[in-house]
Amino acid sequence: MSSELFLAAASTQAGSTDRIFFVLVALAGLIILFVTALVTIFAIRFRRGSRAKRGELPRIISREFELGWTAATLFVFLFLFWWAGSTQLSALVPPKSALEMHVVAKQWMWKTQHANGAREINELHVPIDTPVRLVMTSQDVIHSFFIPAFRLKKDVLPGRYTETWFTPTKLGAFHLFCAEYCGTNHSRMLGRIVVMTQSDYTRWLAAQPEGDDLARSGAALFVAAGCAGCHAPSSRVHAPRFAGIYGREAQLASGKRTVVDDAYIRNSILQPRRDIVAGYEPIMPSFAGILSDGDVMALTSYIRSLAAGATGRKGAAGTPNVLSGTPERSLAVSPGDVLPRDRSERAPQ
Ligand code: CUA
Repeated sequence: MSSELFLAAASTQAGSTDRIFFVLVALAGLIILFVTALVTIFAIRFRRGSRAKRGELPRIISREFELGWTAATLFVFLFLFWWAGSTQLSALVPPKSALEMHVVAKQWMWKTQHANGAREINELHVPIDTPVRLVMTSQDVIHSFFIPAFRLKKDVLPGRYTETWFTPTKLGAFHLFCAEYCGTNHSRMLGRIVVMTQSDYTRWLAAQPEGDDLARSGAALFVAAGCAGCHAPSSRVHAPRFAGIYGREAQLASGKRTVVDDAYIRNSILQPRRDIVAGYEPIMPSFAGILSDGDVMALTSYIRSLAAGATGRKGAAGTPNVLSGTPERSLAVSPGDVLPRDRSERAPQ
């Protein structure tokens, strides 16, 4: 369904969101009709002067009926809660096979990066029928990544990663909006999501210049910042080694278990005493104020590339270094605009 009123549903999640929406509207409509009809009928029937029978209700209505419809509405509402809740929850967990892409928001533009390092501004090309996982962060204030046609909205926060995912089901270009007021040009923080066929996407991706290899700068930083002194395989210090840990579960000294992901690695670098892995001493100093956000992302990318191991370049990309480069201005591209292919990361000043 696509018209002025009903926006095309272009992702798997859009389908389930719409189903819930229309069932809720239909149910609410039926209840309104039913109540309005009863009000009208009773108003006419029991108007002043009418001879309608008044007085006490038969016992079966005042008791059994009352119990019946109270219980029935309770179960209808419990069902609605379960149905909408479980749909929302399943939308939180991306499939393992999802393509990982990175998004950095800043006043007032979207920067995106593909698994091979290819970068885009205010655009994201994705293959159809493929789950895509977005790892997002902001360089300044809170933004919100909003694709109406996918029924997808997720806040993008500074100093933290948020994740979301989608599986596009329609070819074409779809609006990307910022849905959180983020300053003067918030309303111009626009972009578009281009959904291509699998083969077109492969061809498109191969034609992009690769971005910096974030994992490689992370590897250099691993030595330069002194991490290697304890964490290199050859080190004599009893500290965790990184090969293969990304994405695995770790047993913490506190007894809890946690998955080694971007957020955990970030915490471990900036607040190393918070979640100590079982079997290790809390001897690592904090690198808060020493390593920048970009440095942490590069190191995370390096650790992730160690996990990818044999699969080559997979995992070599990461969230673009948000602190690099000169201040940029948003290009304020509108959805539908054709972007020149060679538009570089840095906008003309
Ligand atoms: Cu970014 Cu509003």
